[in-house]
Amino acid sequence: MEIKNDRTDVILEQDAHLIHSFSDLESLTHAGARTVISQAEGAYVYNEKGERFLDGMAGLWCVNVGHGRKEIADAVAEQLKTLDYFSTFYNLTHPGAAELAARLTALTPTNLNTVYFGNSGSVANDTAVRILHYYQNRLGNYKKKKILSRIGAYHGSTHLAIALTTPVYRAGWESADEFVHFLSSPCAYHHDADMTGAEFCDFLIDEMVRDIEKIGVENIAAFIAEPIMGAGGVLVPPDGYHNRTAEVCRNYDIKLISDEVVTAFGRLGAMFASETVFNIQPDMITTAKGLSSGYQPISATFLSDEIHEVISAKGNKFLHGMTYSGHPACCAAALANLDIIENEKICEHVLEVGPYFESSLRKLAELDIVGDVRGSHFMMGLEFVRNKDNKQYFDEDVAIGMLVSKHAQARGLIVRPLGAMIVLSPPLILTIKQIDEIYAVLHESITAAISDIKHLLN
Ligand SMILES: Cc1ncc(COP(=O)(O)O)c(C=O)c1O
Repeated sequence: MEIKNDRTDVILEQDAHLIHSFSDLESLTHAGARTVISQAEGAYVYNEKGERFLDGMAGLWCVNVGHGRKEIADAVAEQLKTLDYFSTFYNLTHPGAAELAARLTALTPTNLNTVYFGNSGSVANDTAVRILHYYQNRLGNYKKKKILSRIGAYHGSTHLAIALTTPVYRAGWESADEFVHFLSSPCAYHHDADMTGAEFCDFLIDEMVRDIEKIGVENIAAFIAEPIMGAGGVLVPPDGYHNRTAEVCRNYDIKLISDEVVTAFGRLGAMFASETVFNIQPDMITTAKGLSSGYQPISATFLSDEIHEVISAKGNKFLHGMTYSGHPACCAAALANLDIIENEKICEHVLEVGPYFESSLRKLAELDIVGDVRGSHFMMGLEFVRNKDNKQYFDEDVAIGMLVSKHAQARGLIVRPLGAMIVLSPPLILTIKQIDEIYAVLHESITAAISDIKHLLN
């Protein structure tokens, strides 16, 4: 893709007025700190000079069907020409929101048949908690409000969603802590004790039960969990964990919210991972990102029939709503995106090619600083350590994830740096050839990083 007029300097001058999300604002003022991405197509994005990068992050875990899908752009344009904006407030609705609600609830586990649309994953999770609090109030359980979350979780950045998120994401900021209790991260690699997977799972379940008993079930509304934690570092729980935590929730009358903001719409080879991959039926599922493949900002909070029945009983009022909930253009993008996922058999493709992606990345474990390669299908992460034998971590100021990611970007691959990790969640349309390209670039980039920091290695 050729771009004749390189406007990088002008854009960066204008960009000085823009606050970037989750960034070190001071460091962005340094020369060369920011990257301008101007165009995209398929699995690739392009800068102002027309240089191509393989988008190993699918934007931000979201461009599941790939960039530049004309079908989605056309559907949005058509929708805006037909009905630009109308709300789903009060008694009002429109065809796109109604069709999307019906199509999505046919894909969720059978107990989830109603949905509330929002415009971000954070809003989807806020909505879930607000609805559950209201549900408990309707049942007279006025104290049953706490949410169990986990170290390593990422549930969003609104004031409530960030409180549900692992504390490292809000260091130095305020948080609505009174609503949240954190359980341990379910990632075996970070657990110091020498346990088998089964023993580690027992440990996590014992802790959950012990903490529930301590806090008192009359104070706990829900347990929120990503099937595989994403932004916390692609943390994969031990086998059986989700079944067992779901059983604990059932036994203690604690609602289970499955945060599928990342894992839905094919990333793990299923439309929704909760039931199909992990064999659980949550009371609520939240999702966003892949719902429209990021083409429009839309999220969804699905409710079980039982919760819906309570909150919609006569005399109750649903006092929750955002101007852009169920925006026609967002619904149109999501519907066109669903068409692509279904017609092009994207889930089947992920099931076929995902294991090759996984095994290619796992080969990188032969390199000296690659301590762990984890994840599933198109949701993977590599964690770097100074010494693999005694799992000696890098000091934060080495910024090893950033170093590897810079080497990768210089070689035409965008990956997400995350502390001592790099994370990959590419578009789901990836080919074997592109997977080989990712492997080769990462091998070179990690080798280059090792050479930069060899004085630190022992
Ligand atoms: C699992 C999960 N939940 C919620 C969110 C928040 O979504 P958003 O950034 O759209 O508010 C994210 C964002 O990355 C996420 O990964």
